Amino acid sequence: MTISLYHRLKTVSRGIGVRQVRLICGLILFSYLLSHFLNHALGNVSLQALAIGVAYHLAFWQFLPVAIVFYAAALTHGGLGVWALYQRRQFSRSTLEPLQLILGLSIPALIFSHIAGVRLGHTLYGHDKLYPQVLYSYWAGPSWRVWLMSAALLTSWSHGCIGLHFWLRLKPFYQRAAPWLLACAVLIPALALLGFYRGGRDIISASATTQWRAENLSPKQTGTASEQATLETIMNGFLIGYLGLIGAVLAARGLRALHERRGGMVTLSYNNGRIIRVPKGLSVLEASHRNNVPHASTCGGRARCSTCRIRVIGDPSGLPAPSPREAFVLAQVGANDPSIRLACQLRPTDDLSFFQLFMPNLTPGEPGSQRAAIGQERYLVSLFVDMRGSTSLAEKRLPFDVVFIVNRFLGAVSQAVLSNGGQPNQFVGDGMLALFGLGVDPHVACRQAVQAAHDIAVNIAELNAVLSHDLHDPIRFGIGIHGGEVIVGEVGYRDHMVFTALGDAVNVASRLQDMTKTLGCQVIISDDVYERAGRASGLLPQQEVEIRGRAEPMRVRTAADAADLVSQSPTDEGAAA
Ligand code: FES
Repeated sequence: MTISLYHRLKTVSRGIGVRQVRLICGLILFSYLLSHFLNHALGNVSLQALAIGVAYHLAFWQFLPVAIVFYAAALTHGGLGVWALYQRRQFSRSTLEPLQLILGLSIPALIFSHIAGVRLGHTLYGHDKLYPQVLYSYWAGPSWRVWLMSAALLTSWSHGCIGLHFWLRLKPFYQRAAPWLLACAVLIPALALLGFYRGGRDIISASATTQWRAENLSPKQTGTASEQATLETIMNGFLIGYLGLIGAVLAARGLRALHERRGGMVTLSYNNGRIIRVPKGLSVLEASHRNNVPHASTCGGRARCSTCRIRVIGDPSGLPAPSPREAFVLAQVGANDPSIRLACQLRPTDDLSFFQLFMPNLTPGEPGSQRAAIGQERYLVSLFVDMRGSTSLAEKRLPFDVVFIVNRFLGAVSQAVLSNGGQPNQFVGDGMLALFGLGVDPHVACRQAVQAAHDIAVNIAELNAVLSHDLHDPIRFGIGIHGGEVIVGEVGYRDHMVFTALGDAVNVASRLQDMTKTLGCQVIISDDVYERAGRASGLLPQQEVEIRGRAEPMRVRTAADAADLVSQSPTDEGAAA
């Protein structure tokens, strides 16, 4: 268990890159924003509700460990935003990406006066500013302050929502959840702004009494004139420094472009004959976007989907080494060949010729084309089944006879898959890939796949009995089962698009199926699927196997006869009990 946890942590840590860090920090900041917005929304109820809400909000976010994580996330996220401004040479054609960056970079400039007034004043002088003091300063002061705060609220919220959209859009539930999420994305800031307004109006009315002013606007709470002046100086200094930093980054971009132009250009040759010349330093995907060359990139260049991958023609040894994140994604899809690279990560320093391994989505305007469905990331269980000995069968029989037997075999397999809720997905010669989990949760998918493996054995045994007079040897087969996050979508070309799943889990299932030959068993199930299926009692023998393309060994369960799987069924065990 400890070793397995260690392996999992190691695998997960290899998959963490800059984007993953930015996402985690962004999620922390968005949680803060959500809590703050819900607090503002309480202004629609009463000033007392606002005060109670802020007490809970502060108790959580100012709890020391939480505060440390929060400030670290804010600094890291902000730093990575500035780095992205320097590093991104080209944005995908979506306008959301540059918009997200501009909104993100505007946030520090918009909120620093608020931070200086509330947090810095507290840290330096012990000011005690809560809603009454803050709302009074906005609504009794010059109107630009209200507009500035409203802009800060909307900018941060929009930036966060775009980030969440980029993160979630590949998730299977997203399409169903999108209308609800959109409703929340509109309602929450609307209620927060309304609460900010209502709270402000209530404070202005309350401030008409001298008693309220004496209780809420004392120098201890809001600071003396000289303290305010010092805070303003700090705020101005920060603004100048921040704008200077952005200016310096833009200047650095210009210098880099100049340097790259002087440093030379590289020629990129695509498999369709297209040749482009771009400055060194661009990624292949950025070069494609800059030159309007269609290039598949389901995750938008975030090193998550692998659909941008290319096969380099010629010697790949001169290419820049893959980053840990690129190496991780390539290993996940079983791409061990050094000539296969992610176009969104590879920045060629020399001329390059390559094949795009996936066709980009075709636009509806293209003659004879159909828009390919965008891929979705989801957990699926892949079951590979392959008939054994079909080559020798073909040698001994007439071709029609072989086709008849293979079809009976595939029919028996498909029937078992379908009756257990799976989908026969690809037929390759005498083998088949079946997918489970397109409409059910992972645990059900795992149970269905294991039960289907059992039913395949039963169906083939019946088929062997029916064909016994006709076959010298009974039909034999091997099954490999593994589950994991894969990309599902349509691949192919024009009228030849097919729905399928791509990803490491599919490749591993295929390799497990192959391995049944060397291990002399009929079924190999990854331990993960076996456990999720509710068969963690250890009734099937367990062992570790090396999988080509994976750094770590994998724990699997093997069964000499797939029909034995039935005795492991929890239903049966339950019935027996
Ligand atoms: S575009 Fe998704 S991995 Fe490159």
